[in-house]
Amino acid sequence: MSNLNIPANVTNQELIEWVTKTAEHCQPNDVYWCDGSEEEYNRLCEEMVASGTFIRLNPEKRPNSFLARSHPSDVARVEDRTYICSISKGDAGPTNNWMAPREMKDILNEKFRGCMTGRTMYVIPFCMGPIGSPISQFGVEISDSPYVVVNMKIMTRMGNEALEAMGDGEFVKCLHSVGMPLETGEKDVAWACSPDPKDKYIVHFPEERSIVSYGSGYGGNALLGKKCLALRIASTKGRDEGWLAEHMLIVGVESPDGKKDYVCAAFPSACGKTNFAMLIPPKPFQEEGWKVTTVGDDIAWIKPDEKGKLRAINPEFGFFGVAPGTNYKTNSNAMESIRANTIFTNVALTDDGDVWWEGMDGDKPAHAIDWQGNDWTPASDKPAAHPNARFTAPITQCPVVDEDFDNPKGVPVSAFIFGGRRNSVVPLVLQSFNWAFGVYMAATMGSEMTAAAFGNIGEVRRDPFAMLPFAGYHMGDYFSHWLDIGRSIPEPPRIFSVNWFRKGEDGKFLWNGFGDNMRILKWVVERSRGTSKGVETPLGWQPKYEHLDWRGIEDFTEEQFNKVMNLDRDMWLKEIAMHDDLFFKLYDRLPKEMAFIRELLVSNLWRQQELGLAPSRPEETEATKAVAK
Ligand code: GTP
Ligand code: SPV
Ligand code: MN
Repeated sequence: MSNLNIPANVTNQELIEWVTKTAEHCQPNDVYWCDGSEEEYNRLCEEMVASGTFIRLNPEKRPNSFLARSHPSDVARVEDRTYICSISKGDAGPTNNWMAPREMKDILNEKFRGCMTGRTMYVIPFCMGPIGSPISQFGVEISDSPYVVVNMKIMTRMGNEALEAMGDGEFVKCLHSVGMPLETGEKDVAWACSPDPKDKYIVHFPEERSIVSYGSGYGGNALLGKKCLALRIASTKGRDEGWLAEHMLIVGVESPDGKKDYVCAAFPSACGKTNFAMLIPPKPFQEEGWKVTTVGDDIAWIKPDEKGKLRAINPEFGFFGVAPGTNYKTNSNAMESIRANTIFTNVALTDDGDVWWEGMDGDKPAHAIDWQGNDWTPASDKPAAHPNARFTAPITQCPVVDEDFDNPKGVPVSAFIFGGRRNSVVPLVLQSFNWAFGVYMAATMGSEMTAAAFGNIGEVRRDPFAMLPFAGYHMGDYFSHWLDIGRSIPEPPRIFSVNWFRKGEDGKFLWNGFGDNMRILKWVVERSRGTSKGVETPLGWQPKYEHLDWRGIEDFTEEQFNKVMNLDRDMWLKEIAMHDDLFFKLYDRLPKEMAFIRELLVSNLWRQQELGLAPSRPEETEATKAVAK
């Protein structure tokens, strides 16, 4: 093993010891400490072009941008290989994989022995959150992947600045290897990983606040500041210290009178956070002076300040966004954010050296190279880009980045929104009666599976708070923590649920979504300010047609609106019965409030029936008519 190359500005003894021990164990060819400079970024990109990991895109079309193609077995997070290794199994809860820390460490020690042979070991100091923020946290990732280094440079505040701010203080140890040592003289592959799906490990030790990841080079499996640190480890830390780490975007909304509110919204993976975070208001709203700005598109850390007001920061510094479906019509801000200085992973390559994916503007290219490097034409039966293909781009390139995105104090939170992908049952928008009802609503959120996660696409799974794959501890305790936060602050933000994805009998979306979501966002903000109207329903407050602003789509009728807002009593009784599946699973640590609220909702639905109140849906089924009599 060669020199450790410890730079003069590294004084943190714990870091030095950890790097020394890890280098001895993993046996890399050499050790490189990342300084986070542009020069370093460019050099590593060049090296990856030379080694075949990166393809430089046409500098005229996509300046300073690259394409990487992953191994076909390494295209998304691997939830079945993700572990929470708390000391007690009960602390991980039934929704996480668990193994005793000792047992897991024995496995990982064997896996990591010599695993970096033939590779460089990169030491990557980073800060999650604005440097100097009391909410921020430091981490150091050790990785044998240069792809990870350049992505971490975009996604976090990485390098000397973070290292110096960290000083001799605390940091989260994040150890990563692609799990593919090279024999002497063996040629590297374009995308190194452990191709056996069972030979990947994404492991968290919440008590130690450390992370070990083996065998994957993709996204949240490998960029350990993101889901591993900023959600799984941070949620545990937040529980212990009285704050929240959430799978939420943060968006600023300014009304024409200059008043500004910030809203945090949790949607599961690939369910529209990036789009909502960069929402482009309809023309009449823009002309009137409504402005929407982006603080973050995936993760929020939220802490009460001295006065008990919740303030949020985006711990990240870039976007790791879903490419397919992104276009100028639905999200021109995302398209503008990725015009240059962007890393694309698993998108298609056009003949003129640019990128393409399903759902991009304009005609399909007559020919392209697909995400696996094969020829592709519109006649091909496979998609050109992988459905979970992604772009990595600096947040500073977003045309509507919020002026306070880097403010160490964070931004004040006025409202929370929770939304799944549900083709039926769940209405376009509901406001919960109070904080505890809101926690119930978020806890029982469901969503159809997408390509960003492991599972059967289209199937509904409960995804409480959009945190099912990301909570670092028992989900029942997590609900209690949310209830505690609400009790501990004087004026908790209002809580809403939305569903952009409801479909009609013809299988088409009942709601246009995208920019039109502004109409809902405006109502949410005005409800929080106490300036807009709503009506009480058994499940919460809802706007009536006349309570929303329809300027620009006056042809969207009240009848269409009622369809997308409809609460079907029978379906809701079934839905609530299904909540029990989750509650029974979490029973040993489920806060009692959940059971009481469930009772209240059921009795509300029955009371509505008893009073003979007209159901909000257009026609009753024979079954409910019979019951109503
Ligand atoms: P992660 O990065 O995986 O956490 O996901 P995300 O929540 O940021 O997902 P993203 O915004 O990239 O969502 C992508 C998918 O949601 C695409 O298929 C979009 O077309 C779809 N989508 C986003 N907003 C809307 C909407 O308002 N209506 C409809 N129908 N689809 C939407
Ligand atoms: C998600 O799956 O929610 C993502 C992408 O944001 S990844 O970082 O790969 O987890
Ligand atoms: Mn996400």
